[in-house]
Amino acid sequence: MPLRQTLLYMSRQPALRRMVETSFASRALAHRFVAGATLKEALTVCRRIRGEGISATLDYLGENVTSLDQATACRDTYLRVLGAMREAGLEPNVSLKLTQFGLDLSEADCEANVAALVRTAAGMGGFVRIDMESSAYTDRTLGIVSRLHAKYGACGTVIQSYLRRSERDIAALIPQKLRVRLCKGAYLEPPEVAFEAKQEVDQSYFRLACTLLQEAHYPAIATHDERMIQKVQQFAAENRIARDQFEFQMLYGIRRDLQSKLVAEGYRLRLYIPFGEAWYPYFMRRLAERPANLLFLIRNLLHD
Ligand code: FDA
Repeated sequence: MPLRQTLLYMSRQPALRRMVETSFASRALAHRFVAGATLKEALTVCRRIRGEGISATLDYLGENVTSLDQATACRDTYLRVLGAMREAGLEPNVSLKLTQFGLDLSEADCEANVAALVRTAAGMGGFVRIDMESSAYTDRTLGIVSRLHAKYGACGTVIQSYLRRSERDIAALIPQKLRVRLCKGAYLEPPEVAFEAKQEVDQSYFRLACTLLQEAHYPAIATHDERMIQKVQQFAAENRIARDQFEFQMLYGIRRDLQSKLVAEGYRLRLYIPFGEAWYPYFMRRLAERPANLLFLIRNLLHD
């Protein structure tokens, strides 16, 4: 099995999770991608990057909860996050996963939990981004986000360029004026569902980015791929799409050099900032994206 697939498979193994979470080296490396365990630490990062002209979306780490009580607790934490961002004078903007809000247990309860959050965000001029998880959840995610958007506004979702279905999904989202974040996709998917070759994923990404830039309401171009960013900038310039009509997004801790460059050039940039204790699956997906991260981890585990 290729390395990326192996790491993504490992991201779902509980025994390994316990081992990695207790290792000093992996905790140290995870710190590079995670703002901290607490909301206070996450807000400190938000304030710091705001000073550099970068906005934030906060992600309270967690996914695939196993009880509705856990889902309600996540909702309450997110409500506190929105309130705290507003109190800190920051734009209340969060990103969440539906499996954290109970999607595996009850779609109706999950939707009610997210509705409470979106309603609150709408009331304070904030925004809720519903992340996209594996393809088993795509239809249900699009269904929930479309209904909530029609009712409250203040929410958007994510489209993954590795999925073969994404062109159709974008065509359906554009008339709804629903804000889309475009990413390449971070989960283990079968070839019937997703492109396997990086070149195909990248071609799909650029095609979808062009459609979003020309036709969609305030898309987010989420990537650290420098060549792709340059192509998007060139396309926007050639088609007279102003720099305030879209934003770039990146993950906390990745390509800080590129982040500063974009801001210096006058582009809008938002960082996705995760915080909390449940960092293992998020961390493993980041390792899968870049083998050099894994080598660093293995070298350090040997010295643990
Ligand atoms: P690509 O993987 O081609 O990497 C391009 C370059 O970026 C690399 O050469 C390297 O320099 C750098 N890079 C990328 N990943 C790195 C890493 N982990 N460590 C160090 N350097 C790295 N996915 C998903 O399925 N659902 C979602 O909801 C989201 N949400 C989301 C939000 C935001 C703001 C971003 C930026 C990304 C996501 N993703 C996501 C993750 C996304 O699908 C994808 O896995 C990663 O962004 C990596 O892909 P790139 O576009 O960066 O390109």
